[in-house]
Amino acid sequence: MLLKRPRRLRALPGLRDLVRETSLSCSDLVWPLFVSERITRRTPVVSMPGVEQLTVAEAAQEATAAWGEGIQCVLLFGIPAEKDEHASQACAPNGIVQQAVRAIKKSAPQMIVMTDVCLCEYMIHGHCGIARIDGERVEVLNDPTLELLAKTAVSHAAAGADIVAPSDMMDGRVAAIRRALDAAGFHNTAICSYAAKFASAFYGPFRAAAESAPQAGDRRSYQLDPANALEALREAALDVEESADMLLVKPGLPYLDILWRVKERFEMPTVAYHVSGEYAMLKAAVANGWLDERAVTLETLLAFKRAGADLIITYAARDAARWLKL
Ligand code: PBG
Repeated sequence: MLLKRPRRLRALPGLRDLVRETSLSCSDLVWPLFVSERITRRTPVVSMPGVEQLTVAEAAQEATAAWGEGIQCVLLFGIPAEKDEHASQACAPNGIVQQAVRAIKKSAPQMIVMTDVCLCEYMIHGHCGIARIDGERVEVLNDPTLELLAKTAVSHAAAGADIVAPSDMMDGRVAAIRRALDAAGFHNTAICSYAAKFASAFYGPFRAAAESAPQAGDRRSYQLDPANALEALREAALDVEESADMLLVKPGLPYLDILWRVKERFEMPTVAYHVSGEYAMLKAAVANGWLDERAVTLETLLAFKRAGADLIITYAARDAARWLKL
């Protein structure tokens, strides 16, 4: 038997380029923005170095600058001035996200704007739906929440959002949103469904950034159990049936097996969310001098592509776009 030599094709940079299976480019990246009605100027998020809460005007400026650097899609999260028990600011025509969508579309008209459709930032109790709360006992009511989510999605579309991304994990929300969008004439507004969103401890820093931590209880009665892969596939199947345009898996790195299975099974545009805790871990190690930021970030993002992601939502999008051009 001749000795097999796989190293032959690794010998030169040019050879490695020729046989590389996966590539990462700016058009794979989605950059999340936090827009707040509670601030008068940009405010750093301490647990997420490099991430800031922004005013509407600042969000438009940043989105425009990001467009110039090669970012083609932003994902908006809103922090309203007032929270209540019906998330009334979530679907307000002049709510914070609706204002931000309009401002971004005005200053960077070609930017694809995706909006988070969830109620936790708008609810006094921080849950993703209408809740009945008795001490530590929390019951999040599914069906009454659907109407609010659908109204919120329609208000985002009316402001000019290209893609709405429901992250609440209520049953039936993709169908409810699709029906409401179509009834309002927004046939072309796409739905990126958080098909498999797990009840994860990796969301901690985000909840500080979005001011959306639940005041009592946790999200385990609506988000997926981290132990369950088949259940995640069943959730994804429902969203496909309900006519989601894209399927999202979240968190990212600890759930690459789910991402891979969702892509293989459904062959849909598939989105990975490199979440706040994953970003914070990298930043902390980099700050200690333990990891090389550029190398480790690009390797992480490439891993999502290899596992089947067509798009990657990451707080490191702008840095990555810069590094990809160097
Ligand atoms: C809102 C929402 C969360 C994230 C995205 N949308 C938090 C949560 O479910 O508690 C987390 C994103 C991140 O950690 O980067 N429901």
